[in-house]
Amino acid sequence: MNIAVSSTIDRVPAALRGWLAKPRPMLINGKWVMAKSGKTFDVHDPATEMKLASVAEGDAADIDEAVRAARRALEEGPWSRLSPAARGRMIHRIGDLILANLDELAQLESLDNGKPFSVARVADVPLSADMFHYMSGWCTKIEGKHIPLSALAAGGQYLSFTRPEPIGVVGQIIPWNFPLLMAAWKLAPALATGCTVVLKVAEETPLSALRLGEILMEAGLPDGVVNIVTGFGETAGAALAAHPDVDKVAFTGSTEVGRLIVQAASRDLKKVSLELGGKSPNIILGDADVDAAIAGATAGIFFNHGQCCNAGSRLFVQEKIFDKVTAGIAANAARIKIGVGMDPETEMGPLVSEVQHGRVKGILKSGLEEGARALTGGSAIGNRGYFVQPTVLVDTKPNMKVVREEIFGPVLVATPFKDADDKLIAAANDTIYGLAAGVWTKDIAKANQIANRLKAGTVWINCYHVFDSALPFGGYKQSGWGREMGQAVLSNYLETKAITTNIS
Ligand code: NAI
Ligand code: MG
Repeated sequence: MNIAVSSTIDRVPAALRGWLAKPRPMLINGKWVMAKSGKTFDVHDPATEMKLASVAEGDAADIDEAVRAARRALEEGPWSRLSPAARGRMIHRIGDLILANLDELAQLESLDNGKPFSVARVADVPLSADMFHYMSGWCTKIEGKHIPLSALAAGGQYLSFTRPEPIGVVGQIIPWNFPLLMAAWKLAPALATGCTVVLKVAEETPLSALRLGEILMEAGLPDGVVNIVTGFGETAGAALAAHPDVDKVAFTGSTEVGRLIVQAASRDLKKVSLELGGKSPNIILGDADVDAAIAGATAGIFFNHGQCCNAGSRLFVQEKIFDKVTAGIAANAARIKIGVGMDPETEMGPLVSEVQHGRVKGILKSGLEEGARALTGGSAIGNRGYFVQPTVLVDTKPNMKVVREEIFGPVLVATPFKDADDKLIAAANDTIYGLAAGVWTKDIAKANQIANRLKAGTVWINCYHVFDSALPFGGYKQSGWGREMGQAVLSNYLETKAITTNIS
C-alpha cells in the first residue's frame, strides 16, 4: 500500500503558518518567554517527518521560575480573592474561546499529532471546550459540611465544619495522544478548585497547549495562575515532579514514568494522581448484536490509531461467533483510509513519532515471530511518515508480549472463549492494568454481573469509548491513582480542613 505524503503545512491558513514559523515561547507568569538556556527544539509532523515548528526547551531553571510564579499567584494574586462565580465565569470563557478557535486548534492538533483534522474537529477540540464548561459549574458548588461532635464534645458545645481548600501549586505532566484534551482534563479541575498550575506538555506535541495558553490569557486568567512549560521529560518533567514547592503532581503517561513520578514526589510526600497505561479487555458474548459489536470493537481498538490508554486491545469472543466477528473487524480494518491527517478523506493518520513507530513495529514483529497470525495488517506502511497497518492478530498465547504489554498502536489481539464463566473473568482480569473494559450481549443482567467482576475503572456495555466530562475515568491496579473528570476529580485538587469553634 502506498500513501500519498505530500506537504501538510500548506493546507492550513497563512495566519497559522505564520504562527508556526516563529520559535514558540513558553507561558510563565503571564509572559511569553524563551528558555533561560536559550535552547529550542524542533517538533515534527509525523506524516511527513518534516519540521513543523521550534519551541523553547525549558529545563529545571524554567520550571523553578514557573513554580515561583504559580506560588505567587496562589498566595498573593487576585486569583484567590475572586468569588467562585467570577472564577467559574472565567473558566467558562476559556471553553467559549476554544470553540471560537475550533478550526485552528484542530489544524494544530492534526499537524502535530498526526490525527485526522476531521476527528480533532468533532472530538478533541469540542470535548476540551466541554471540560472547561462543565468544570466552570463546580466552582460555586464545592461545599464543606457541618459535622456534629459526640465524644470530646461531651463537656461543651462546639461548632465543627469542613472547608475544602485548593491543594495549592499543582504540577501537571501530560502525554501526546490527545494533547489539547489532556491539557483540558488537567487544567479545568485545577482551576475550578482554585489551584495554580505549572503544566509540562509532551515534547512530541507542544503546539495546541501553547495556543491554549494564549486563550487563557485572552480569557483574563491572572498572571501566573497557569504556566505552560515545553521541554523534555527527563529534564523539565523530572524537575517539576521533584520541585519542593509543588504541592501536588498530576500525571498522565506511561506506567514506567508514573513510578518515577511517585519516587520523585516521595521525598517531600507531595500528593500524586496518576492516569497510566491499559490493556483493556473487550468481551463479546455469543448472543450479542454482532454487527454492533463488530463496529464497536473496531472503533474500540483503532480510534486514535490505537493510541488510547483505554483502547480495547484484548478482544475476547465466544467461540461460536469468533470467526465471524474477527473477520468482520479485519474487513473494517482493511477499509480504513490511512493518510495525512489534513486530508479530508483520511480516517487514520500516522503514529505520533519515530520512537512510537519503532516500538509498535517491534512488538508486532515479536508477536508474529512467536506464532500469532495476522488476519489483516501486520506491518508498517509507506517509506515516509510513521504509518502502521491496522492489525488483527489471532492464534495468540496468554504469555506473548503482544497480549501482555500495552502496544499503544492499531493492533488488536483476539482470543476465543467457551463460556462466560469464571475462566473468562480471570482471563479478562489477567493483566497488571485495570483501566477500562467492554461487554457486548443482549442479556443485560449478565452484562452487569460481568461488569461488577471486572477490575477496571470504566466498563462499557454495548458501547465503547463513551466519554463525558461528568463521568469519572481512571484505573484500578497499575493503571493509576485517582480519577479524572466528573465530581470525582475535584478531590485530586482539594485539601479538607476541619474547623472547630468552642461555642459553649
Ligand atoms: P511518557 O510517560 O514517557 O511521557 C508522558 C509525559 O511524561 C511526557 O510529557 C514526558 O515528557 C513526561 N516524562 C517522561 N519522562 C519523565 C520523567 N522522568 N519525569 C517526569 N516526566 C517525564 O510516555 P512516552 O514515552 O511518550 O510513551 C511510552 C508509552 O507510554 C506508550 O507506548 C504508551 O504505552 C504509554 N503511554 C500512555 C499514555 C496514557 O494516556 N496513559 C499516554 C502516552 C503514552
Ligand atoms: Mg517516555
